[in-house]
Amino acid sequence: MVQFDSVLIFILFSSQVSAEVYNYSFPTNFAFGVASSAYQIEGAYNEDGRTDSIWDYNLHEKPSWVIDESNGDVACDSYHKWEEDVQLIKELGANFYRFSISWSRILPSAYKDTEVNEKGVAYYNNLINKLLDEGITPMVTIYHWDLPQSLQENGGWMNATIADNFVFYAKTLFQLFGDRVKHWITFNEPIEICEAGYSSDRKAPFLNAAGVGGYICSHNVLLSHGKTYREYEKLFKPTQRGQIGLSAASYWYEPKENSGLDAEASHRALLFSLGWYIHPLVKGNYPPIMIERIDEISKKEGFAESRLPKFTDSEIEMIRGSFDFIGLNHYTTVQGTFGTDFPEPSAYFDCGVKSSVDPEWEVAPTSSWLRNVPWGLRKLLVWIKNEYGNPPVLITENGWSSTATLDDTDRIRYINGYLLSVLQAIHEDGCNVLGYTHWSLLDNLEWLAGYSARFGLVDVDFNSSNKTRTPRKSYGVYQEIIKSRRINP
Ligand SMILES: *[C@@H]1O[C@H](CO)[C@@H](O)[C@H](O)[C@H]1NC(C)=O
Ligand SMILES: *[C@@H]1O[C@H](CO)[C@@H](O)[C@H](O)[C@H]1NC(C)=O
Ligand SMILES: *[C@@H]1O[C@H](CO)[C@@H](O)[C@H](O)[C@H]1NC(C)=O
Ligand SMILES: *[C@@H]1O[C@H](CO)[C@@H](O)[C@H](O)[C@H]1NC(C)=O
Repeated sequence: MVQFDSVLIFILFSSQVSAEVYNYSFPTNFAFGVASSAYQIEGAYNEDGRTDSIWDYNLHEKPSWVIDESNGDVACDSYHKWEEDVQLIKELGANFYRFSISWSRILPSAYKDTEVNEKGVAYYNNLINKLLDEGITPMVTIYHWDLPQSLQENGGWMNATIADNFVFYAKTLFQLFGDRVKHWITFNEPIEICEAGYSSDRKAPFLNAAGVGGYICSHNVLLSHGKTYREYEKLFKPTQRGQIGLSAASYWYEPKENSGLDAEASHRALLFSLGWYIHPLVKGNYPPIMIERIDEISKKEGFAESRLPKFTDSEIEMIRGSFDFIGLNHYTTVQGTFGTDFPEPSAYFDCGVKSSVDPEWEVAPTSSWLRNVPWGLRKLLVWIKNEYGNPPVLITENGWSSTATLDDTDRIRYINGYLLSVLQAIHEDGCNVLGYTHWSLLDNLEWLAGYSARFGLVDVDFNSSNKTRTPRKSYGVYQEIIKSRRINP
């Protein structure tokens, strides 16, 4: 009987979505957007006073970090071609455009109390004003991984004093653009900034301090976020009336076996990834399981104290509730199971969960980590609802990497599937989802994958001096979804 039930449950969860789902439409206030980030699209890396970020510095020092040895010196050349980008967003019918600001273009000296670069300010003023003229809401990511190199030379996110510099930078943006920008994201994917950049060498600054760097960096990122939120609340929100969130990245972890143990492992993996950042924002502190396990394991490893830093009571007060919405970047699903065969010290060992994939899941042709598992998004939204009291969630990234083809039926399948899953989460599960942002408008520099992984609704010919943009088939499909506010079967 038990077996029969689990087979039945399996069939219910794995079956194709039912016909009614195609009759659901997106609520009238649900917003659709597209996303990008400064280093990945702007180029003009040394023009008009901009100084190096950690990405410029490292990819110039050692081009072989990137598989095709490319870098962001020119990228999509959006610093010069931004008007064309805005036209593409307008024709798509998107309600908003999520882009990031390059810290070292606005403050070339990077530190607090340094001069603003008027030419950098003019670039973003032009972009913001044009978007508004075309009826597109600007949404700004304050930090999308491009730390000014001069701050890295002072320890970067390992140095607690960085919070003062970050808060100064953020306040500068509120002063400059906050009369027109009402949607702010402080940080994009702290887990990538910190775990990939400071605990490993998968992202700049490639520090590789496993089990230590990621925790200290994340602590400073969370404190910088909280301080920024409170400054905005005090000094700007009464007049500007904007909203602030943080975008956290997370897989859905599906229990590998239908067992209580794997369910526990998958739940823990979610707390160690999404919960690492969202738990503090909602509840004021790290998930108790992280605090307990890292403390215990650190002591066994001979550390004098936990490798996970501690918040003071006043910091907990400051961080708790420091969000108007939760930004969620979700791309794919993995399977979770118990496992401790990781090197020590490491966040993987601390978490104690191994991940794998079901080989049946369709894999992206240019990103081996990315599989098309639409129901994972629905389960993740339900998990957030249950764990955190149904906070407003804005999906700030979701996308697929195709080849350079214009006939991207794989991306179309992915978009339709994931958006149907969002419709189910809204209509059947009561999840509070504010909107959806497709990553990305354009093909762009996909970090260490260079120009090989194409995430754009619009193809970019990186070999042309013009960086010619050509909409793909998926651009037309997303355009139709935005217009009809439903998925066409
Ligand atoms: C979907 O809506 C159409 C009309 O809009 C209706 O005829 C059809 O019965 C609905 N299908 C389901 C499965 O609810
Ligand atoms: C951290 O920043 C402070 C202030 O800028 C600086 O004096 C100090 O040397 C930095 N620490 C490290 C380890 O770089
Ligand atoms: C540039 O063109 C060459 C030759 O056609 C091709 O192999 C390469 O992938 C192209 N590079 C990009 C970034 O499109
Ligand atoms: C430059 O790009 C535009 C639009 O992307 C295109 O219409 C034009 O043909 C391109 N010019 C060249 C020389 O490739």
